Amino acid sequence: MGRRRLVVANWKMNLTTPEGCSLVEAVLGTAKQRPEVDVVVCPSFVSLQPLGRSLAHTPVALGAQDVFWLGKGAYTGQVSPRMLVDSGCRYCIVGHSEARGRFGSEPPRPLSYFSDTDETVAQKVSALVFANIVPILCVGETALERQDGRTDEVVAEQLAKALERVAPEECSNLTIAYEPVWAIGTGNVCDADEAARMCGLIRDEVASITDSACGDQVRILYGGSVKASNCAEIFANSQVDGALVGGASLIADEFSKIVLSA
Ligand code: 13P
Repeated sequence: MGRRRLVVANWKMNLTTPEGCSLVEAVLGTAKQRPEVDVVVCPSFVSLQPLGRSLAHTPVALGAQDVFWLGKGAYTGQVSPRMLVDSGCRYCIVGHSEARGRFGSEPPRPLSYFSDTDETVAQKVSALVFANIVPILCVGETALERQDGRTDEVVAEQLAKALERVAPEECSNLTIAYEPVWAIGTGNVCDADEAARMCGLIRDEVASITDSACGDQVRILYGGSVKASNCAEIFANSQVDGALVGGASLIADEFSKIVLSA
């Protein structure tokens, strides 16, 4: 069976719960027109419970933007996989470049609260798999790494480390998002052929880290300045299974066009 297309809205730290509830009404309308596309919205932690209630038994699935890997305990400010399940989450973004402290539109800043490392990302991926939540694992190079000709190596290393703790038989749900850091929030979308090449490279890497069945099954999204006006080109290559959308997911009409185009 072929891989289903997947379009994920990463609302980041943008919408209050009432704002999210009204946007999700429009998203639902679009998702109903395209039952062959999986649609996921990822609001902030505080909106998960109310949106989980509104989205129960609808074609739009709920995702979180991050998670902590332990089950419970004295970890002030953290949210466990079990809490995500309890809120109705079926997906969770993990290892986003912003959570790793790698920003596309700003010079590097020593912000130690954006502190994900390959090791914490691996812990989070494994905890999500254990909780039966689909990890949307983000990988991608910075502008400097690309300039230095290190793109493929950086992405391969991020993948190998993030998947260190998962067994091949646990990978059936795995989703990867190729998000070049320099394309995020900058308007500099990656060239469609290059995005497809990177998605192909990621598929080959996943197959070699796990097994070929997993390489065939894994869904690979492109993310970084995806808009209604550029998504058709990105979706045209069969290596790209969908998109992880930031800014454009906050505008009902833009996001609808992306879903309809997928
Ligand atoms: P933009 O679509 O705003 O570039 O953000 C992409 C992203 O980071 C999605 O996770």
